[in-house]
Amino acid sequence: MGGEETLLRVEDLTVALETREGTIEPVKEVSFSVERGEAVGLVGESGSGKTLTGLSLLGLFPPGAKPPEGRILFEGSDLLSLSPSRLREIRGQKISMVFQEPQSALNPVLTVFTQMEEIYKSHTSLPSSDVRERILGRLREAGLPDPLTVSRSYPHQLSGGMRQRVMIAMALALDPLLVIADEPTTALDPTVALQILALLSRIRKSSGQSLLFISHDLSHVRRVSDRVLLMYAGRIVEEANSAIFFSAGPRHPYGRALLASRPEGATLTRKDGPLSAIGGQVPPLWDLPPGCAFAPRCERADDLCRFTRPSWQTKGEGRVFCHHPVDTPMGAPVHAA
Ligand SMILES: Nc1ncnc2c1ncn2[C@@H]1O[C@H](COP(=O)(O)OP(=O)(O)O)[C@@H](O)[C@H]1O
Ligand code: SF4
Ligand SMILES: [Mg+2]
Repeated sequence: MGGEETLLRVEDLTVALETREGTIEPVKEVSFSVERGEAVGLVGESGSGKTLTGLSLLGLFPPGAKPPEGRILFEGSDLLSLSPSRLREIRGQKISMVFQEPQSALNPVLTVFTQMEEIYKSHTSLPSSDVRERILGRLREAGLPDPLTVSRSYPHQLSGGMRQRVMIAMALALDPLLVIADEPTTALDPTVALQILALLSRIRKSSGQSLLFISHDLSHVRRVSDRVLLMYAGRIVEEANSAIFFSAGPRHPYGRALLASRPEGATLTRKDGPLSAIGGQVPPLWDLPPGCAFAPRCERADDLCRFTRPSWQTKGEGRVFCHHPVDTPMGAPVHAA
């Protein structure tokens, strides 16, 4: 990116929580970066640590969390060592998040206008007429054709898709540099979900904002991301250019299993029929195997995998946390082993 400073660089982030079962690390030695204007997809099964990773970037940690380890460098300064007031400023203005459930993120007793107005009042000193203009402009950008009516509505008067568009308008209110969208389409029917994905892509491309798109659904990640981060049991286990990841296929056996478990993954499955789902379950975080966490579910697992933690293997722009990654030729579609 022309030597320009990386917008976000997460280095060895570990978030540990005290639970009844003992200490767990739902985010473990996580490192990745997001460049300016880039869309990065964070994908993995439910419980893999995606949401906690996203919340960490806002400096939000669940009750019972120990002080996080590692660094979260945003425009060069470590969010983990900023004062609470400085962090709140960044959270409002430079990093924003679109949540899975717009219903619970919106205040049911306030109109859309009032909720958006509060954002501008608490972060800017714009005169009311400008605020009004911006609110209507943002709602229009979020694909709401009648912004005036929407702005006067209460959340319950809007459909699920419209509420998510309002959430997006709110997330964009202050022109953030980074938008984190955490499963933004989960509560929506498939047609509306695709519209929202297209909207996020369009806004990101036209505004030059960066997007961290979190999803359990590879087909959604494929639509919006330049780069893919695959997460399993708290760790990122593969990082790849999106085009290579989806054409040559993932190199991590977990990524291949995840892709093959989807209907679109059929080209990566055996000739005798698609794999329906990944066998087995994510191991409990308080009882992870000593070696690779995916070993109990992996067709390639051997004793090395079972007893020795993998290390990163790099190839081209990508890297994979695995002892025996699939050796995909760059760009060529490959059939699973
Ligand atoms: N507040 C919490 N207290 C205890 N465990 C939590 C809490 N939040 C999340 N976890 C655990 O951390 C793991 C990762 O959660 P999460 O980040 O929500 O995963 P994902 O978003 O990938 O589904 C899960 O095993 C979850 O049970
Ligand atoms: S390290 Fe071994 S068990 Fe883990 S994903 Fe790679 S091949 Fe499978
Ligand atoms: Mg989640």
